[in-house]
Amino acid sequence: MHDDVRTQILTVNPSHPEQDAIQKAADVILAGRLVAFPTETVYGLGANALDAEAINRIYIAKQRPATDPIIAHIHNVRWLDQLAVDIPDVAYTLAEHFWPGALTFVLQRAPRVPQNIATGLTTVAVRMPVHPVAHALLQVVQVPIGAPSANTFTRPSATTAAHVLEDLNGRVDVVLDGGATTIGLESTVLDLTKSQPVVLRPGGVTLEALQAVLPDVQLSPRYVTDAESTVSPGQMLKHYAPRAKVTVYTGAESDVIAAMQATARQYDSGKVGVLVPDEDCGAFEALAVVVPLGPRDDLGAMSKRLFAGFRDLDAFGVEVILTRDLGRAGLGAALWDRLLRAAEGRIIEV
Ligand code: TXA
Ligand code: MG
Repeated sequence: MHDDVRTQILTVNPSHPEQDAIQKAADVILAGRLVAFPTETVYGLGANALDAEAINRIYIAKQRPATDPIIAHIHNVRWLDQLAVDIPDVAYTLAEHFWPGALTFVLQRAPRVPQNIATGLTTVAVRMPVHPVAHALLQVVQVPIGAPSANTFTRPSATTAAHVLEDLNGRVDVVLDGGATTIGLESTVLDLTKSQPVVLRPGGVTLEALQAVLPDVQLSPRYVTDAESTVSPGQMLKHYAPRAKVTVYTGAESDVIAAMQATARQYDSGKVGVLVPDEDCGAFEALAVVVPLGPRDDLGAMSKRLFAGFRDLDAFGVEVILTRDLGRAGLGAALWDRLLRAAEGRIIEV
């Protein structure tokens, strides 16, 4: 059940958003309703973070189980005190280096913050986005905005307003269309409530960048064990998944491409999609629907294209998507995580 709404789309200049559009969106947030807006990572589905009823609307619109907590977005570091208590010094040090940006802290939740933003946990996740549209919206509303990625639950995150509408038309009051997001993968989630900081989700700020400031940062055990060996279908929460079944190939590059070609040949070429770096595309001509991710040496470009690529292949109506390991260094760690989850553990080692 959800309230049917007529979704209003407001197109804004991504670097200098028009104030009247921002004001309209702010009024909607302050009325306890939902606004989808661009951040530098992905589009967020926003509501007043201090209004439990508004936050509840997010879970309903996304069809998201009430066990998956939501990130609160803030305008400046001073807002942290509204949301969190017992904030460790390291949060401020990290904020100086990485905020505004693609880094989320998990902190002890302040009593005034509604429980449902954190699904009853005693903590709260907080991020200060850098995108001018998000920044302008926060400046006008003057309340923190709770916002998960603006996709329906389990679908690939939305990196354009068109993706938001694909999933949420009629379920969100306003969409601020500020064009494609620049990073394309979600923020890095860093838990600062334990004796040692732990990355719960790799994302837009790389582990290497965090380590430069915080040498003792740990990766959640989930990421430390060799993922290929521990993940099996069904073991991993389905997430970021296109409708088509995704399989990820890993191993030496030429072997991987040969194995993907062999699999592609088993299908009608219109039913198999391939999502690979630009340099690989030629190998699949006439074998599959091919969507290029970007230059192989440009992890940033490929990150930006990943979710859009999944959605494009769904739009072509393919039944399976073959893609491959793109490395683990830098943004590679976040890319690998999203690939694994989209594949629900269907990893082929060649
Ligand atoms: O880049 C992003 O992080 C985007 C933009 C919109 O800011 N948001 C986003 O939200 O990706 P969502 O809801 O799709 O993912 C939030 C992640 C989830 O993995 C959730 O489990 C984790 O943050 N999270 C939120 N609150 C938490 C908490 N209190 N403790 C631990 N993890 C938390
Ligand atoms: Mg999400």
